[in-house]
Amino acid sequence: MKKTVLNVLFLIVLNAFSLQVALAQKKSIVQKVDSVLKLMTLDEKIGQLNQYNDDWTATVPLTIDSDKVSQIQNGKVGSLLNCMGTERTRKWQNIAMQSRLKIPLLFGQDVIHGYKTTFPIPLAESCSWDLEAIELSARISATEASASGINWTFAPMVDIARDPRWGRVMEGAGEDTYLASKIAYARVKGFQGSKLGEINSIMACAKHFAAYGAAIGGRDYNSVDMSDRLLWETYLPPFKATLDAGVATFMTSFNDINGVPSTGNKYLLRGILKDKWGFEGFVVSDWGSVGEMINHGTVKNGYEAALSSITAGCDMDMESRSYKNNLAQLVKDGKVPIALIDDAVKRILKKKFELGLFDNPFKFCDPEREKKELNNPDHPIAALDVARKSIVLLKNQNHLLPLSKNIKTIAFIGPLVKVVNQNKGFWDVDVPGIDSSYVVSQWEGLQKKVGNKTKLLYAKGCSIEGDNKDGFAEAVNIAKQADVVILSIGERRDMTGEAKSRSNINIPGVQEELLKALLTTGKPIVVLINAGRPLVFNYTADNATAILYTWWMGSEAGNAIADVLFGDYNPSAKLSISFPLSVGQIPIYYSHFNTGRPAVSDTNRFYNSSYNDLSIYPKFEFGYGLSYTTFQYSNLQMSKKKMHFNDQIEVSVTISNTGKYDGEEIVQLYLRDIVGSIARPVKELKDFKKIKLQAEQSETIKFIIDKEKLSFYNQQLQWVAEPGDFDLMIGASSRDIRLKDSFELVE
Ligand code: BGC
Repeated sequence: MKKTVLNVLFLIVLNAFSLQVALAQKKSIVQKVDSVLKLMTLDEKIGQLNQYNDDWTATVPLTIDSDKVSQIQNGKVGSLLNCMGTERTRKWQNIAMQSRLKIPLLFGQDVIHGYKTTFPIPLAESCSWDLEAIELSARISATEASASGINWTFAPMVDIARDPRWGRVMEGAGEDTYLASKIAYARVKGFQGSKLGEINSIMACAKHFAAYGAAIGGRDYNSVDMSDRLLWETYLPPFKATLDAGVATFMTSFNDINGVPSTGNKYLLRGILKDKWGFEGFVVSDWGSVGEMINHGTVKNGYEAALSSITAGCDMDMESRSYKNNLAQLVKDGKVPIALIDDAVKRILKKKFELGLFDNPFKFCDPEREKKELNNPDHPIAALDVARKSIVLLKNQNHLLPLSKNIKTIAFIGPLVKVVNQNKGFWDVDVPGIDSSYVVSQWEGLQKKVGNKTKLLYAKGCSIEGDNKDGFAEAVNIAKQADVVILSIGERRDMTGEAKSRSNINIPGVQEELLKALLTTGKPIVVLINAGRPLVFNYTADNATAILYTWWMGSEAGNAIADVLFGDYNPSAKLSISFPLSVGQIPIYYSHFNTGRPAVSDTNRFYNSSYNDLSIYPKFEFGYGLSYTTFQYSNLQMSKKKMHFNDQIEVSVTISNTGKYDGEEIVQLYLRDIVGSIARPVKELKDFKKIKLQAEQSETIKFIIDKEKLSFYNQQLQWVAEPGDFDLMIGASSRDIRLKDSFELVE
């Protein structure tokens, strides 16, 4: 007893001591920042607010400065982007060390889904619903990047995206706010590690603030017109989640929102982010977006652009040179108080201190570490794990999959079978001087899997685009010789990404016609669809025997796909975004309002909210994805049916693996607020659990419903829960609801 009291006392003292130390350290960074700031001239302060591109790689448009070296020597640049590798970053950091105050440079890079090891594109990864695996992929990306000179990634992109025409849909976590917020949190934790200052932690950047994913018509860089309520309820929570995870930086978005460009949007940057949410990191513009406000038509010239943007709260100007060319004059003219500049500089210096760059500007420039981490044998293992978890089984007629390992002959056909780099997806990083050729092609993966036991035949069949069918005959011929056909089709990796919006998202070219030709052989056909976005592929969906949506799986693509094809991994992914039946349905998402005239089936279109010529359902809905086994949901229990505001309801449900294979199931909990002071969605994801069950095993899982899960933004934009009835739905997808109940929230 005495010992316990002593232990407790000891712990209290220890905690108080740790707190003191933490406070002292925090204080000392603030003091250090202040002491550097005191030494700085106005020009040097403005210098910290400029970020330049390195000379040789860029997302357009590029400004080349012939005097970049002297600008850095004179303290006129705070950060470089697209400068990679220990050798090159060391070179530029050395130049910065020639400046009067020797303030180190930040090196930023789009480490979006991997560095040397390429992970699945983020949208694919989000279909794993596996927060640990997602965090690990960001952790490894940070480890590799930090070993290669980088200390800042422009990721995660946490824009909710409900329009697959928008090319950047591939960079996010899909359509749902709850799932995307969890993933946003995990990604920041992964990039930043236990804390900034660790050798393998890099700063994360929540982008693009805000609502970029709602660009009208899915056209990149387009305007956004959005109610405050929708902004707060659907588009902002993933950003808030990054903040809760301690994200170091934010990036503004290219779009205007209700007429105000984000980069000059005081309501967003100061009002919400810095004031209401108390964000202490710094905000960087998107590429050139300070200057682009001239095109938006909200400012006349660079002078006004810089004024608008610094006033709004954008601390660093990526590549537009508006700050460099105008801030000094704005201060002299009394338009920009020096306090605004000081605040921006302090935020940036603070991060440089936290990263440990003032102690050692070359901290991330160790070539030995670079060599070691870029060849770390653990990294491909993690890449394979998350890739397998990201492949979605969309169809599996007659249990064609998993394929038997005793098949005599397989015909592997299609334009994506033997390609290598395509598997990396849009935002792969080409590390200069480093052999970044590490990608397992689908052909290689399959060859390794089947060894000598199975004869593997190949034909390309056709190209990704174009109408040439000359290769069809050969493809049909080899299909005839095989027991099973695997057809790998889809997009090119650069058809989805930044500036890659498309009005036609069908599988391009004659690839579906190739499938049609192959079907004449009567052979079972597994189709692999490789893409960065949800495509429209109704012919394939209706006629192929089995379909795996393989997205872009990164370095381990071939191995991951082979593992899934042969059942060495039982697919568990579920779509994080609805797949439309037709472009005409877009935007289509599961959590819509009921409307005054709801359409509830495709057989009744009489004056209700539907298209006369299109189903109300997507082709594949949010949350959908099959397994080689089957899961039964039973025994839904609730601890109570009436819940007070400060109460909780415990929900339990039994999940049984009723099939022959071990497998994982993502159990989804949806709620509906039946009557609200404003309309509420027909269902909203509020929790999920991914569980692993052996064949014939059952497990009872629990969820907790509390007031937070029942809350929403009312008309006054207050976050409230309102008394009344709620529907509870437990589903295997947003449409496949297996169990239902209801409860009441009472005051
Ligand atoms: C993109 C950003 C990216 C930046 C730097 C811009 O075009 O919108 O997401 O981080 O370029 O490459």
